[in-house]
Amino acid sequence: MFIAANWKMNLNKKSILNFSKQLKKFKFSNKVQTCIFPPMTYVDYLNELISKLPISVGGQNCHYKSSGAFTGEVSPKFLIDIGCEYVIIGHSERRTLNNEDNNEIKLRAQSAIDCNLKVILCVGESQNDRVKGLAREFVEKQLLQCLPNNFENCYIAYEPIWSIGTGLIPTKNEINEMHKNIKEFIFKTTNIETKVLYGGSVNKININDILDISNVDGVLVGGSSLEVKDFLAIYTAAVKHLVKSE
Ligand code: PGA
Repeated sequence: MFIAANWKMNLNKKSILNFSKQLKKFKFSNKVQTCIFPPMTYVDYLNELISKLPISVGGQNCHYKSSGAFTGEVSPKFLIDIGCEYVIIGHSERRTLNNEDNNEIKLRAQSAIDCNLKVILCVGESQNDRVKGLAREFVEKQLLQCLPNNFENCYIAYEPIWSIGTGLIPTKNEINEMHKNIKEFIFKTTNIETKVLYGGSVNKININDILDISNVDGVLVGGSSLEVKDFLAIYTAAVKHLVKSE
């Protein structure tokens, strides 16, 4: 079970300090894996603040080269250097707002894996593709074109674009079908068993329903991870879910 918190371009030094103070008062279980992805400038800061807690930190992206003349980019080696365990690659906001295509995403994912980062590779269809019945085909194409070598210990995050930040989520059945298909597709093409996180408008109200879906191995949470109370409510739901299913 994995809870990933993507803070995107939000929070600042002061709010991160407050967030970490609340985290330190909380009793974490070692059953649920957790990683926070703060803005790049605060990864190191957050990592130091929560160094004694069982929470990893990760980068929201990294470059496909490990060094060189790439102004403004972040090397996967830098992420390792400041204590990151994970990196998100191919988030739909990177794909749409920064024109990262499948080819580039594959290169970024490969370079991260080659530097020993664990990748959370995001895939997901548009509303239009969902309505036209093309969601599965679209996601399979993304997987085919983005999956790097040696994908063991990595995750796929299924994040339908139309669900991110909108409050809309697919039905339980649609999520289960897509996760099942992603797992089968990856196994068929690489012989690797992959865990799949669901992302898109996850909150403290719908978390129980989402975790009840059999092919969901965790969640990637955006907006609802910015308030420490909401983040901890989601985390607590995950712990309860595990205890219930034991
Ligand atoms: P959201 O974002 O939870 O705010 O919908 C999820 C994501 O973009 O990873």
